Amino acid sequence: MQIHFAALGATPLAGSALAVLGLEKGALTPAATALDETLGGQLGRAIASARYTGAKGQTLELVTGAADGAARILLIGTGAESEITAALAEAAAATAWKALASTGLETLVVRLGDVSADVAAQAALGVRLAAYRFDRYRTKEKPEAKPSVTKVVIETSAPDAAAAADATLATLADSITFARDLVSEPANILHPVEFATRVKALEAHGLTVEILGEAEMQKLGMGALLGVGQGSRRESQLAVIQWMGAKDPKAQPVAFVGKGVTFDTGGISIKPADGMEEMKTDMGGAAAVAGVMRALAARKAKVNAVGILGLVENMPDGNAQRPGDIVTSMSGQTIEVINTDAEGRLVLADALWYCQERFHPKFIVDLATLTGAIIIALGNDYAGLFSNDDDLSANLLKASEATGEGLWRLPLPASYEKQIDSLAADMKNVGGRPGGSITAALFLQRFIKDTPWAHLDIASTAWRKSGAQATHPEGASGFGVRLLNQLVADGFED
Ligand code: BES
Ligand code: MN
Ligand code: ZN
Repeated sequence: MQIHFAALGATPLAGSALAVLGLEKGALTPAATALDETLGGQLGRAIASARYTGAKGQTLELVTGAADGAARILLIGTGAESEITAALAEAAAATAWKALASTGLETLVVRLGDVSADVAAQAALGVRLAAYRFDRYRTKEKPEAKPSVTKVVIETSAPDAAAAADATLATLADSITFARDLVSEPANILHPVEFATRVKALEAHGLTVEILGEAEMQKLGMGALLGVGQGSRRESQLAVIQWMGAKDPKAQPVAFVGKGVTFDTGGISIKPADGMEEMKTDMGGAAAVAGVMRALAARKAKVNAVGILGLVENMPDGNAQRPGDIVTSMSGQTIEVINTDAEGRLVLADALWYCQERFHPKFIVDLATLTGAIIIALGNDYAGLFSNDDDLSANLLKASEATGEGLWRLPLPASYEKQIDSLAADMKNVGGRPGGSITAALFLQRFIKDTPWAHLDIASTAWRKSGAQATHPEGASGFGVRLLNQLVADGFED
């Protein structure tokens, strides 16, 4: 699919699908009025015979029958906003793609009015995100089941500036796609070594990538991470990604740490069969970190940033760790593994410690598909945010507001610490059902020194069963890439 920008009204419409803002406060928008005239009042008549009021989220689709005009028209409601914002344009363009991409028509024209370059570029981002599909392994899909639209034209008052802005945003879309693809890949293909190989290939974008294997992690004392992977035939890996974009190469970096469990069977505390296939997505945190590092490099962000991925496979096996095993983490703290299915926190314990020891970062944000409990608490539109730092929290919530990737802060109460006390070791890896996401976060906090830190539990948002927003089709969301890119852009560049 190709995206072009053109001046308002300059695109020949014959045979194409046209998305246009429709009614606003009961009256046709200027662009819709002009269109209605060429159609002899057809738009007005269609609106009169529908419940369409132009409210946000509403659409009305018409088949025009016009020989020399658009073959199909989609009116998109934008609510009371008379000035279209970039976010609204993004959502409208994504909605247009979703509604019109598989109509059989090949060209989609998005006419949102005389919008600025930035608004048009963000509409293009909406189309790019909505158009995502993972079809690598579908060898027999009929052409009529695939999207027909190959060309999207977005109209704007400044086509050249829009194309320039789009060039940067397209690298963000590509990085989100990179993360989505990793999450979508099945675990027989994407095991820890393959994940590390794909991350290594990011060096082409100017990143530095080191891969540590089990022997090196053994030397570092990463008993918590290694214990999770010891039942797998695949070697555990730690990927260390660096982007040195700040003026001062010695400037303290920001750091992102991701849970990369390429498959989570639960281990000896094995999960039920029903839905277990979804545990191929248990590396969504690591995918997001790889994605944001790619995004920062692609736009040459003026920041030093580190991304650390703990890559393991959690399998039951003769060599797997057992419930009751006690492991020693890199920090020296010992952990009684009550439940081998609470493995993500074991992986992160060592990845977080390593990150602080080696890089002394300005802050750390970790992302992890950590607990089923966060889905129960927040549903699928919010990830859980836990933090020891109000400024970092506020910055994350601001980025969340700007990008539409939902975050909701939850507490880290000291009074819940006792839930993870162990009789035999410094702590145990589960704290019972009450506040399950909170005790998981409290566990992680025990591996944070005095670094400002935030933990995002993205088990709720990494994978979508149904596409709630048009920009997030069913399946992998790539949640976190855009959020963290925004966090850096808003406050951490030279
Ligand atoms: N990977 C899971 C969490 C998860 C659940 C991610 C659903 C995505 C969708 C995690 O490793 C896990 O198994 N957590 C357990 C923790 C429990 C044993 C304390 C859980 O949530 O049940
Ligand atoms: Mn698990
Ligand atoms: Zn897991």
